Amino acid sequence: MSLEKKFQNLFLQVSTRAALSSYFHVGKKDKIIADKAAVDSMRSQLNQIDMNGKIVIGEGELDEAPMLYIGENVGTKNGPELDIAVDPLEGTNFAANNLPGALSVIAVAEKGNLFNAPETYMNKIASNIKDSNVIDLDYSVKKNISNLADYKNKNPENITACLLDRPRHKDIINQLRELKVNIKFITDGDISGALLVTNDVFEVDIFLGIGGGPEGVLTASALDAFDCNFQGRFLFETDEDKLRAKKMGIEDLNKKYDINEIVSGDSIFCATGITTGDLVSGIEVNNDIFTSETLITHKSLGLRKNIKLTQKV
Ligand code: FBP
Repeated sequence: MSLEKKFQNLFLQVSTRAALSSYFHVGKKDKIIADKAAVDSMRSQLNQIDMNGKIVIGEGELDEAPMLYIGENVGTKNGPELDIAVDPLEGTNFAANNLPGALSVIAVAEKGNLFNAPETYMNKIASNIKDSNVIDLDYSVKKNISNLADYKNKNPENITACLLDRPRHKDIINQLRELKVNIKFITDGDISGALLVTNDVFEVDIFLGIGGGPEGVLTASALDAFDCNFQGRFLFETDEDKLRAKKMGIEDLNKKYDINEIVSGDSIFCATGITTGDLVSGIEVNNDIFTSETLITHKSLGLRKNIKLTQKV
């Protein structure tokens, strides 16, 4: 079974409209309002689509998020059963401060094919090498870099690794520096950071480090359509986190997830730019007309492209 082609346009509009709604709050130093605008828009768009949709990655659990909470049913109930992962505003700091890289993101798969991830951190690794023996979350940084260098016939000095600039990454950074690997630091937005491995024009060979678990699921769905590789392991710090994970049905809290244990079957992924970043341009508004750019993938149809739209606000 695969997702009908008509859903491409429908979900493209969902992320595009959410990006536009958030755009009006760019640079206003209020990430909550910018996020709420994207959430409200995304939810109302989703509810117009003929489907039995269920939010598997959303704004949080029901007690902390009244809209697009994990488990919320969306759609007209007249259509296929779909699992939906959303990050209506990825890069809240970027939007609040008018910095590059804010996105509105959605991923959709058939029921049971998208991992229901807890709101915890995830240790991640991504590359465009499908061969599963080359890069592994459980290898040392040194082993991954030397395998990658051998595989790509490059010296470590010509490898670029992308990771979030965080104190928790001190050890990884020191090891990369010792190996003379180039580092592309990102201040936020690790969905976008990980997707830089999809195309040589971005000159990123590997993405690694700890970021949000929900973002990991969205990343995996796009990377799957690009035939890239991804692995993730959730990090449960508090007893509350561990209990919540158990309630969600996660038995082995230390499990390493391969890409197809996070997303399987067919999927559609859309990431629309709010502010211009590496992957896509941001929204531009001119009177009552706006332009947008979305990276869209549809796995079963081999679709992976950037779509620019001009339409009425
Ligand atoms: P928000 O859009 O929710 O602010 O998340 C931005 C982000 O940078 C994600 O891309 C990333 O996964 C996560 O935050 C990293 O978390 P932290 O800032 O705690 O290191």
